[in-house]
Amino acid sequence: MAHQSARAIAFAALREWRRGDRFGDAILQALLSGSALAGSDRAFATELFYGVLRNLTLLDFWIALLRSGSIDDESRDLLRLGLYQMFCLRTPSHAAVFETVELASRRSRSFVNAMLRSALRRAEELQQAADAAPLTSRTSHPGFLIERWTRTFGADATSALCEWDNQSAPVYARVNTLRTSPAEFLAHHPESEPLPSHPLFVRLTSIPAEALGRGDCYIQDPSTSAAVELLGPQPGQTVLDACAAPGGKSGFMAALMQNRGELVACDRDPARVEKLAGNLERLGVQIARVAQHDWAAQPLAEELAPRSFDRILLDAPCTNTGVLRRRVDARWRLQPNDFKRMPEEQLTILRRLVPLLKPGGALVYSTCSIEPEENEQVVSRAMAEFPFLRQDGERSVLPFRDGYDGAFAARLLHAG
Ligand SMILES: C[S@@+](CC[C@H](N)C(=O)[O-])C[C@H]1O[C@@H](n2cnc3c(N)ncnc32)[C@H](O)[C@@H]1O
Repeated sequence: MAHQSARAIAFAALREWRRGDRFGDAILQALLSGSALAGSDRAFATELFYGVLRNLTLLDFWIALLRSGSIDDESRDLLRLGLYQMFCLRTPSHAAVFETVELASRRSRSFVNAMLRSALRRAEELQQAADAAPLTSRTSHPGFLIERWTRTFGADATSALCEWDNQSAPVYARVNTLRTSPAEFLAHHPESEPLPSHPLFVRLTSIPAEALGRGDCYIQDPSTSAAVELLGPQPGQTVLDACAAPGGKSGFMAALMQNRGELVACDRDPARVEKLAGNLERLGVQIARVAQHDWAAQPLAEELAPRSFDRILLDAPCTNTGVLRRRVDARWRLQPNDFKRMPEEQLTILRRLVPLLKPGGALVYSTCSIEPEENEQVVSRAMAEFPFLRQDGERSVLPFRDGYDGAFAARLLHAG
């Protein structure tokens, strides 16, 4: 019964997502917070919803093999849910068919039932067809992404990347040294695992709600440390985090600064600014001035930038192609033109920030994209426009090479 509710939530989330005006995360959170589901059922609803989104093209490929005619939206969502359980989750077939058909309206019930039973009978044929299908269907990625990744990284890496995007992501947290130490955290949370390559991070096997509430740790992937470590903010410095919400990197920088100096943390989105302020407060950050600011619209107000900054972080808005396994529906929002549009947006913000950098100061430009147009090429273009900038280090994380979310960071020194 309880799983039926989890399925009903996943079904409602798919219906809402199809309307196209809200992110998958927001839809699911709203539905889960309005439900009385227990922890394991919440996890099951999440698995179903994200699982269907991750495997959308594959599920539709199977549906097209089962029926060539048109299918109404409700039946398609139910078939996607049912086939995902049967062939991807390997849920016992009786439960997958019965519980999915239970969600159908009277109008579509017998159709969905017949289609799912036909899929059961043709399971082997469907699986073989999927194995022989092109990467775009097999791994449910837009063709234009596969083409560009093949050009940039080669066929094997592209295939590995697509497989990576379809796995559920482990949960990592940074231990907040403003509140505790990694040793103390691990002693209190023996279920979490240390990460020798990233001593301030742990891998979580369960969510330590109390520790999160106290600000002892903050959920973030170890790859997010590349930009902050490259920037190297020091205690006593004046630091600007230009696109800071929800605050993972601001919190990390304040910890490296040992809460000494000044950290101006901006973002353009009012709801995210509120979240940023709450997160920094919970993390015990005392040196932050949080402000809503849109760099594309205007320069920073005088009262926030009374002087220039020793360190600036631009963790820029980007296409997110390095983190598609976490931003499950992002691949379906991407358009080929985004790879032209985003670099212009990134450069617009950079142009506002460079004049705020002190001579001798450092700016780190970072993204969670793995596209050269948004990374190396933005850096080259910025250096061509501002000849006093000198590149002083670069880090990149590639999921198929490094085993963490994709990230890019380049350090630019004001050598004027
Ligand atoms: C990659 S996210 C930042 C993540 C953040 N640094 C962290 O570690 O939690 C990019 C942020 O840039 C903000 N943003 C996008 N365009 C902006 C602009 N023109 N001015 C200010 N913020 C902007 C978005 O609202 C988003 O919160």
